[in-house]
Amino acid sequence: MNSKELRKHFLKFFENNGHKIVPSSSLLPTDPSVLFTTAGMQQFSPYLAGKKDVLADFDSRHLASCQKCFRTDDIEEIGDDTHHTFFEMLGNWSIGQDDSGYFKEGAIDYALEFLESIGLDKSRMHITVFSGNDTISKDEEAIALWKQRGIISIKECDAKDNFWGPVSETGPCGPCSEIHYDRGESFGCGRSDCGPNCDYCKRYVEIWNLVFMQYFKNEAGEYELLNQTNIDTGIGFERLLSIIQGKNSAYETDLFSDVISKISNKENEVACRIIADHIRGIVFLADAGVVPSNTGQGYILRRLIRRIIRYGKMLGLDGDFWVSLVEATINKYKDIYLEIDRKETYEIIRKEEEKFSLTLDRGLKIINSIEKDISGKEAFDIYQSYGFPLEMIKEELSKKDLSLNENDFYKELKKHQELSRAGVEKKFGGGSNPYLHTATHLLHSALRKVLGEDVQQMGSDINDERLRFDFSFERKLTPEEIKEVEDLINSKIKEGLVLKKEIMSLNEALSSGALSFFKERYPEEVSVWTIYNKDSGDIFSKEICGGEHIENLSLLESFKIIKEESSSRGVRRIKATCQGKYTI
Ligand code: ALA
Repeated sequence: MNSKELRKHFLKFFENNGHKIVPSSSLLPTDPSVLFTTAGMQQFSPYLAGKKDVLADFDSRHLASCQKCFRTDDIEEIGDDTHHTFFEMLGNWSIGQDDSGYFKEGAIDYALEFLESIGLDKSRMHITVFSGNDTISKDEEAIALWKQRGIISIKECDAKDNFWGPVSETGPCGPCSEIHYDRGESFGCGRSDCGPNCDYCKRYVEIWNLVFMQYFKNEAGEYELLNQTNIDTGIGFERLLSIIQGKNSAYETDLFSDVISKISNKENEVACRIIADHIRGIVFLADAGVVPSNTGQGYILRRLIRRIIRYGKMLGLDGDFWVSLVEATINKYKDIYLEIDRKETYEIIRKEEEKFSLTLDRGLKIINSIEKDISGKEAFDIYQSYGFPLEMIKEELSKKDLSLNENDFYKELKKHQELSRAGVEKKFGGGSNPYLHTATHLLHSALRKVLGEDVQQMGSDINDERLRFDFSFERKLTPEEIKEVEDLINSKIKEGLVLKKEIMSLNEALSSGALSFFKERYPEEVSVWTIYNKDSGDIFSKEICGGEHIENLSLLESFKIIKEESSSRGVRRIKATCQGKYTI
């Protein structure tokens, strides 16, 4: 089966089994807190949460789709056998109860029947199930169902691997069962405990995730039982295709063969794969209406274009090499996604290439001026500011027998990825409420004064009731530290500090000491907000910020932290509110 046949076969299989086929939604989701569509269920989220009526809008509870998805978390892993930026996800859904009782049993039966229909061998399927935690019990029901169907290998895994969702901070979620397929001993590490989710090899590839969506994660981080049960499933299309075509990766399947054959280079296969992946990502982002920029979705597109140009140079491809690759990609997909055949895509790449060549010259000058080994942070700044892939920086440095600290580079990268995930609005502090926005700057500064200058802003979100602030810090704050932060802010409110906004160049802003952890994403000219004492001139906070603020802290009455919790590893989250002489 080629890619077209597999896609068609999946949709037909579910259509024949009473599912309504729903077209893919856009790669750009309606929820502004996430950058891209990363899963097939996103367009169905309100229905899965029971907030919208699926029958009214789709005329069926049972749906199936082939969804365009884009993930940025794994961008550094592109080039291996299983990761992609753009990919397609096949999925089937049962939303809410009906007489058919299609829940865990139905989902498992459909999955096995479909996989057997494309020739996959049940004895090579290995299943993972949710092992349970303090609040949600082990999925005994799924274990029994898999056993009844003759599956022998069932591994219990914790929430990290087998509890799925939500996509954004709140939303529908649930325990899941994953089907991993054994690619054979030759792919294995040979360890006796090798199996699904092995840390040492990729012998077992996850091909299908069946989510038993019974919960809703609320604002407080609690899992509420939904009033309905749902099935949400997802197959990584590229992975499944490589397995049924007996290939190591999708790059060897018909999905990529036209592109890869034009740039094939045995000496640097990874670079070829990166170009092939990114060309496809660029075509689909451009199709979704994204244009290169320094922030959010546009920044990702800019990065992909710059990476293909650098990797192209590395492989010695001629300047216009990408034109025929874009053509081949469009040809591959234009029957499926009719709209992608756009000439604008070529113009977007061409313009970005022109801009990049100027940046590139500047970046090369910087690298050439380096005379000693550099830190991970320095390397990351070059990577970020000039779009140099890590390998290229290493390569340029190695010409002079110099190196960089790769571990620290990856730490910086990780911080940056957290930001990308947070979404454009959130990263820049949101604009909905200037009072809480000013309070966010006060909090940022107070945390650095109380906990130390290592504290860095990792994300921010404001609604009408509270601010939310994510920052890098390793441990829980003590009650004394929380009080000290509150007291410091309240003392500044009492002092009646004032705010001023100045417009300056990014360089001036940075050298004036204004805080910015997103400097590479700012425009050349930025606004700097300073909170200071008018009489003494003492500055309490100075930040680059494009949002709106109040003029005087006397408009606030008091500041209170309502919650301090973990957001992710090494990142804490504070929710806080203000009493003020204002009405919202
Ligand atoms: N929503 C599930 C996933 O994306 C199926 O893996």
